Amino acid sequence: MTEEEKNHLIFGGVDVVELAERYGTPLYVTDENKLRVNLRSYKEAFETANTDTDIYYAVKANGNLALLTILASEGAGADVFSTGELWLTKSAGIPAEKILFNGNSKSDDDLRAAVESGVKISVDSKDELRALSVVAEELRKEVEIAIRVNPDVSPEVHPKIATGLKESKFGLPYYEVISACEEANKLPNIALTGLHCHIGSQILDVSVFSEATEKMMDLVEKLYEKGIALEFVDLGGGLGIAYKQEEKEIAPTPKDLAEAILPVFEKKMDELGINLKLVLEPGRSIVASTTILLSRINAVKRAYKNFVAIDAGFNLLIRPVMYDAYHEVLIANKINERVSELYTVVGPVCEAGDIIAKDRKLPSVERGDLVAILDAGAYGFSMSSQYNGRPRCAEVLVCNGEVDLIRSGESIEDLLRNQKIPARLR
Ligand code: LLP
Repeated sequence: MTEEEKNHLIFGGVDVVELAERYGTPLYVTDENKLRVNLRSYKEAFETANTDTDIYYAVKANGNLALLTILASEGAGADVFSTGELWLTKSAGIPAEKILFNGNSKSDDDLRAAVESGVKISVDSKDELRALSVVAEELRKEVEIAIRVNPDVSPEVHPKIATGLKESKFGLPYYEVISACEEANKLPNIALTGLHCHIGSQILDVSVFSEATEKMMDLVEKLYEKGIALEFVDLGGGLGIAYKQEEKEIAPTPKDLAEAILPVFEKKMDELGINLKLVLEPGRSIVASTTILLSRINAVKRAYKNFVAIDAGFNLLIRPVMYDAYHEVLIANKINERVSELYTVVGPVCEAGDIIAKDRKLPSVERGDLVAILDAGAYGFSMSSQYNGRPRCAEVLVCNGEVDLIRSGESIEDLLRNQKIPARLR
């Protein structure tokens, strides 16, 4: 039978219906080639004669070790937000000089781990700055830092993922940045080398990146005038992707991002006669499109709505529930069949809000059919939980028709692991 006659979705050269039979469902499936292409498209877009750009992949989007190892082999650095993410990146072979430890609430243990590892730290408050100096002194190490700036720009995104508004919890208020830098320069064991911001996520209009670049470069100038020279400016991540078919036309590419940032960045460097490294921290735009989530239909119910109940819910993909996010869904074993009816695809979690896809036109479906949820590589597995006593699912990597298991699914024992019943209750 030809692939066409089989009516199956092929992903990374692999028939996903066979994958689901072999590994079970739910199952996250990542295409290695797409991952490499996505990272390379950033590198190509930012390759200019005047600016040296480093891509620090945002590990929070997807911290699978195999993916990190691939990104490391492509030369990526990393933005990490916890000591756990720091260890993941180190295990994947990302060099310390290409790691920035971010976060608005770092414990002494986090600061120690960062200083001992020799990574750069993005400092989120004056309080943290002082604590870090003490920790670095204790460890007799010098630590390179950036100041996290709240640039007060408002991208048009879901409020839960707009991080650069002045009310946001992240970064020093714009008016306090210069004094924080002056203080940093006087503190022992602190070497201020950069400024950092991140304005939000799933941004489809790149003009806000120009605005943020302007504001960051104004700070660079003010510092320069005070004799404080920097080495890099990190403009964070945030580039959006086309989750909906109709967004394909308008979704920006890394090239669009480069065109929004580089002219502003380079103009200021020219004016001041300085050379800075540009750092970017893309997460979603590197991994989202690389991955699908396969899920089996457990029941089709015709009620006030047509419900399709699948075996993956917000325990494995929380984005639709948390941000009203849209993910395209396909019926992977009926890929060429005509759409016929409106269905609402729901998960198995005992909450009415556990809806993966609302009112979608799908081919006529039945119990046992296989659903593919697209663009699930960013903030999918990494935000998963064991809610409702559901072990997390497996992840596989596909590449030109080859398949590798890159994370085993959890078992029921994993739900019990680490729990203890006090002896007096036995
Ligand atoms: N840098 C920093 C400091 C960040 O906080 C983030 C994301 C990134 C980089 C990467 O941003 P990206 O390129 O992925 O947009 N869970 C939400 C997104 C939360 C983003 C948190 N910070 C979602 O599923 O839409």
